[in-house]
Amino acid sequence: PRPIILDCDPGHDDAIALILALACPALELLAVTTSAGNQTPDKTLRNALRLLTYLDRRDIPVAGGAVKPLNRELIIADNVHGESGLDGPQLPEPAFAPQAITAVELMAKTLREANQPVTLVATGPQTNVALLLAGYPELHSKIERIVIMGGAAALGNWTPAAEFNIFVDPEAADMVFKSGIPVVMCGLDVTHQAQIMEEDIERIRVLGNPASQLTAELLDFFMIYHRDPKWGFEGAPLHDPCTIAWLVKPEMFTSRECWVGVETKGEYTQGMTVVDYYQLTGKPANTTVVTDMQREAFVDWMVERLAHYS
Ligand code: BDR
Ligand code: CA
Repeated sequence: PRPIILDCDPGHDDAIALILALACPALELLAVTTSAGNQTPDKTLRNALRLLTYLDRRDIPVAGGAVKPLNRELIIADNVHGESGLDGPQLPEPAFAPQAITAVELMAKTLREANQPVTLVATGPQTNVALLLAGYPELHSKIERIVIMGGAAALGNWTPAAEFNIFVDPEAADMVFKSGIPVVMCGLDVTHQAQIMEEDIERIRVLGNPASQLTAELLDFFMIYHRDPKWGFEGAPLHDPCTIAWLVKPEMFTSRECWVGVETKGEYTQGMTVVDYYQLTGKPANTTVVTDMQREAFVDWMVERLAHYS
């Protein structure tokens, strides 16, 4: 299996990415680290512990990350994910403790001990990943690639120009894109195609195992925010699970190699990912920009993976 570390800010769609990652024999989840984003860092860490407690996977090491973005104050998405960051389902209290080291230290330790390069999957703001890259240059060669949910070639979802994860910590994202490590960007261009509909949620609910039950309840809540007609959605976009799906079923996706930069200073465009789709800058590509996906195949894959939980 391909070894991965999941750096996340659960968050409903982060939680579903975690549930799916644990259900893929093609992946080996070595560690879960948490970033501040959808909720405050104490809550995202607690949520990761509650999820792994519920899923009976206390064997996965967890560590909490940076309490705020590199150069900015934290912005949270409690309008999307609620007061706890995972409003909706009833989750148990954490039945195990996080590692007594930071997220960045746990990532570094995991990379150092791995006998092959590891894929970093980041589904929250990239603060921890940026700190890892800056603090441990000798470990860059142990990172196979960085697969992020973040950014957009087209429209933003937090400002007209910016997607939430990049908007929260643009300086961190800038460091990730400039790192020289291959980056895969699952941005809003593709994640807005990954819509889950009410009838799909029912397919998941009737599977009737604890993981599918939790997924359905997470989706029930996640739907609420996305029902606002301004988005023009039929369902809810499963942003973060696209990273896991891309890793195990790349044939469901279309992508393009592009140079991507992050706007850190613009008056209207802070946190925008500038995607050189037409190679206008002459800069070499630094990112695999995932542009399109097959929604029905994606949903079938999710249902099939969730059916394997007992
Ligand atoms: C991203 O922002 C968060 O609210 C989601 O978890 C996802 O990672 C979408 O813009
Ligand atoms: Ca997230």
